[in-house]
Amino acid sequence: NAAEKGGYEHFMLKEMYEQPKAITDTFSPRLKNGDIVIDELGMSDGDIREIRKIMIVACGSAYHTGVTGKYVFEGLARIPVEVDLASEFRYRDPILDEGTLVVVISQSGETADSLAALREAKARGRRVLGIVNVVGSSIAREADNVMYTWAGPEIAVATTKAYSCQLIALYLLAMKFAKVRGMISESELEEMITELKKIPAQVEMLLNNKDRIQKFANRYLAAKNIFFIGRGIDYAISLEGSLKLKEISYIHSEAYAAGELKHGTISLIEDGTLVTALVTQEELYKKTISNIVEVKTRGAFVMAVTNTGNTDVEKAADYVVYIPKTNKYFANSLAIIPLQLFGYYVSVGRGCDVDKPRNLAKSVTVE
Ligand code: G6P
Repeated sequence: NAAEKGGYEHFMLKEMYEQPKAITDTFSPRLKNGDIVIDELGMSDGDIREIRKIMIVACGSAYHTGVTGKYVFEGLARIPVEVDLASEFRYRDPILDEGTLVVVISQSGETADSLAALREAKARGRRVLGIVNVVGSSIAREADNVMYTWAGPEIAVATTKAYSCQLIALYLLAMKFAKVRGMISESELEEMITELKKIPAQVEMLLNNKDRIQKFANRYLAAKNIFFIGRGIDYAISLEGSLKLKEISYIHSEAYAAGELKHGTISLIEDGTLVTALVTQEELYKKTISNIVEVKTRGAFVMAVTNTGNTDVEKAADYVVYIPKTNKYFANSLAIIPLQLFGYYVSVGRGCDVDKPRNLAKSVTVE
């Protein structure tokens, strides 16, 4: 077992460190001569132009990548996207008009609700694209087309590298759709590909900053409540950052769309409560900074994750983690790294079973 962990204390840490390679393995076979080629898609350019709507269905962290996917597909390709939890989708008599592409995202390819959602969509005559990690799994076999994430086997219950690869698969698809539908130019695509290729080294750099995150995490081992706030893609990042922390540390945490805070959880902020603010989307900087000020006024301690150069955040937040500049649609891939590390070190510090948290399973094959 110690040998399987390759010198790392836990599978989760090992898998976090495998992210640069997993991300590269997921995008490189699909980049050819400055273009994106997804042979497995089984869709001609004509088919891609006919898509009227994308319906993303998944559970857990895969659902969170779907939330990011919505912002990316809508922003880049201008295709309307709905994201739903598989356990909701399958029982709500979903409206799946012609021209709707259903995308089911799953690491294991065996999640019962996601598989049932896939069958429901197929029964209604819709094309289903699976974004799946486990080769030959049920969802991979039953989907009309499969785009594999090449994360390799993931052991820790809390997903890290499979999640990161799902994001990459969604970026590739959105870029491809945007290009084919004439929403981005050749040179814009080229620029995006250049930024995409930088992600593995940037992730590596963020991982190497782990000691600083560990020190910070050690201050919050006794926290009762932790909050994550952000807008747009930063909200999607918050959802996953919050889940990573709570599922393995058993500290209650919540993710809130930053603008919605005053309609709810702001009443739970007390002196010293940790609020993690995601501030990676330039057009939303000012709005989120004003939410940081709101929680600070109520006594919160604010850790912000923002882009290098956005020093304005330092005036509002107490502790700032910088991520390298990237295309705005890719920010999730970088900002999630310090949050994964934070959840991991809080769990380790509290003496929890990091790789196998209580009551949770790696793959949920029952309803
Ligand atoms: C379980 C795991 C989560 C995962 C979810 C969906 O709850 O603990 O980490 O995100 O299932 O799993 P899937 O294999 O479909 O991605």
